[in-house]
Amino acid sequence: MLDFTGQVVLITGAGSPKGIGRTIAHTFGRQGAQVVLCDINQAGLDANVKEMEGLGYKAYGIAGNLCEKESVDALVAEVTAKFGRIDVLVNNAGVSQKVTVADMKLDDIKRIFNVNMFGLFLITQAVCEVMKKQGYGRIVSLSSVSGKRGGGVFGGAHYSASKAAVLGFSKNLAREVARDGITVNCVCPGLINTEIWKSMPDEQAAEVIAGIPMGRPGETQEVADAIVFLASKEASYITGEEIDINGGSHMD
Ligand SMILES: NC(=O)c1ccc[n+]([C@@H]2O[C@H](COP(=O)([O-])OP(=O)(O)OC[C@H]3O[C@@H](n4cnc5c(N)ncnc54)[C@H](O)[C@@H]3O)[C@@H](O)[C@H]2O)c1
Repeated sequence: MLDFTGQVVLITGAGSPKGIGRTIAHTFGRQGAQVVLCDINQAGLDANVKEMEGLGYKAYGIAGNLCEKESVDALVAEVTAKFGRIDVLVNNAGVSQKVTVADMKLDDIKRIFNVNMFGLFLITQAVCEVMKKQGYGRIVSLSSVSGKRGGGVFGGAHYSASKAAVLGFSKNLAREVARDGITVNCVCPGLINTEIWKSMPDEQAAEVIAGIPMGRPGETQEVADAIVFLASKEASYITGEEIDINGGSHMD
């Protein structure tokens, strides 16, 4: 088991009741981290923090909107004032929309990019300043298989484009901050057993499964475990990398 005792881990989009962020938060909590959960959804955030506290994990929630610079700056200031440092940032918050390019509106693209790329940029920029002063940091961002091969199931072309943007952004940043003791990596999940999978009609689900060599969706824990490894001290020489977590549905 990896040990995060004494480390402060900030996770965005961790207020979803059955989302990947919740499992990431539990996994870091189990491994001794002080976990800071952030989400725009106050009620979901409160419920997830309470659940973690009930399990004996160190959890703290901050509601905020990643798309607003003031909100992001306030959030990062609160974390550093309360806990003194930020060792790990997990950029998990994301939004999607299933729509064809033919039906897409410019506002749809702006809404998706606003969270998945611009919000990710705002919080990453702010947290990087803290990490540079510490001389240590781990940043792990959620891209998607859709960002590599196009989606179709989870979202539209704007979603795929935003997740491809996350990969390019992360690789560039990885080069910029490599000598500051900061690593920057991504994970690219395929279809994961979250709301999107549970709400899929049987016929579509069967079609999706047919394209996955392992014949099943991934579990949130399988995504969290890869993230926790990339965020560990043990992953010290890995940067600018992306890990596919997709049951073989896409292989580079
Ligand atoms: N579920 C999948 O199959 C899958 C596959 C590949 C990639 N991903 C990616 O993994 C991440 C988590 O996916 P999920 O299915 O758990 O999503 P989810 O919808 O369950 O959770 C996303 C969370 O982000 C929060 N959020 C949205 N906009 C925000 C904002 N402006 N500020 C702060 N928080 C905001 C939401 O409130 C929500 O709690 C996303 O980035 C998603 O694109 C998911």
